[in-house]
Amino acid sequence: MKPRVVLGVSGGIAAYKASELLRLLTESGHDVTVVPTEAALRFVGAPTWAALSGKPVHTGVWDDVHEVPHVRKGQAADLVVVAPATADLLAKAAHGLADDLLTNTLLTARCPVVFAPAMHTEMWEHAATVANVATLRDRGSVVIEPAEGRLAGADTGKGRLPDPEEIFEVCLDLLDRGAVEPDLAGRHVVVSAGGTREPLDPVRYLGNRSSGRQGYALARTAAARGSEVTLVSANVSLPDPAGVKVVRVETTGQLRDAVVSATATADAVVMAAAPADFRPVTTSDGKIKKPADGSAPSLELVQTPDVLAEISHDRARPGSVIVGFAAETGDETGSVLDLARAKLARKGCDLLVVNDVSGGAVFGSTHNQGVILARDGEPVEVPLGSKTALAHLVWDEVVRRFGA
Ligand code: CTP
Repeated sequence: MKPRVVLGVSGGIAAYKASELLRLLTESGHDVTVVPTEAALRFVGAPTWAALSGKPVHTGVWDDVHEVPHVRKGQAADLVVVAPATADLLAKAAHGLADDLLTNTLLTARCPVVFAPAMHTEMWEHAATVANVATLRDRGSVVIEPAEGRLAGADTGKGRLPDPEEIFEVCLDLLDRGAVEPDLAGRHVVVSAGGTREPLDPVRYLGNRSSGRQGYALARTAAARGSEVTLVSANVSLPDPAGVKVVRVETTGQLRDAVVSATATADAVVMAAAPADFRPVTTSDGKIKKPADGSAPSLELVQTPDVLAEISHDRARPGSVIVGFAAETGDETGSVLDLARAKLARKGCDLLVVNDVSGGAVFGSTHNQGVILARDGEPVEVPLGSKTALAHLVWDEVVRRFGA
């Protein structure tokens, strides 16, 4: 049976973005019932929700009363997600008010509940909203941090609805795990993601095919588990994970500086980025021209700094946990695992997540498989699964080492 999701929509201008979340949910095989508030219908009408979900749309508890909709929808749901959640909706949910179908559904739901707030910065920062969000989180609901950026009218600031794709990923994670424990609360973790680019001239660079998906999954799941997260992102075209500080870099040198500076206060660092190992000795100020005689220029390269080895060997904080990733192909000098064990020792990190990328697997895909090698223990097998599932396994291993 398809997982049943109730998509609550409350009355904010971001209501139209919920249609994208609805599409992501339905296209990935979820049975979605949309429950808007009356105010939400001023922004997006009931026919839109009915057509996109293929189901009737009600806002009140007085339609189809024989089916007892005010309790059935919440009881039957596997997940309730409210996007956007206005300050008013959060207040009602925090206080247990139930004056329409959505608030009744929230009171009767026994499944994970996600709120994706969207409002003006002043409303988000108001003591009333802060207290309501704290109450909802204490009760186990997930309240995603709003994004910063353009708000309704000419204003900008914190309060934007997180990208629908990000809300979708949070929903999938909760449907998969049932609940996410805040076992990284009070911690600061640093994650690097993406592939660095080393410029040859103003238009060309040496780069690689890393999409950044694994690093973004690590950042998102760490935030969901309660951590403060700094994400050092190299040339990634994915939406920012909600509630994460994103530092954008281009080259390995910039990535090194950003990671080293964030590491000073980090409890854990996960190097999921694929830094370019070499850069041109010189970068041409002008575009390198094609020689008329048909020849090709030769490139002289130097090695870039090895960030993982540097932060592992010169630990900024004793007791911090440092994790590397290794995309390996076996060769005549050894199997994938032999090479990975040697790399773990050489780099000096605590954990090394090893992917076998023979045949171009993994890059850009949404799934991952491999093994987590540890300096201090047995390897942990990573079954074929989503990058989110692998991210949780990595954090499980990190949390175990915090305890030790
Ligand atoms: N890494 C790094 N700095 C670099 C290169 C890699 O910090 N200049 C990190 C990556 O983020 C990853 C780990 O090192 O966590 C392993 O990356 P990989 O490319 O497999 O390691 P290399 O040292 O480049 O080894 P190889 O010779 O196999 O390419």
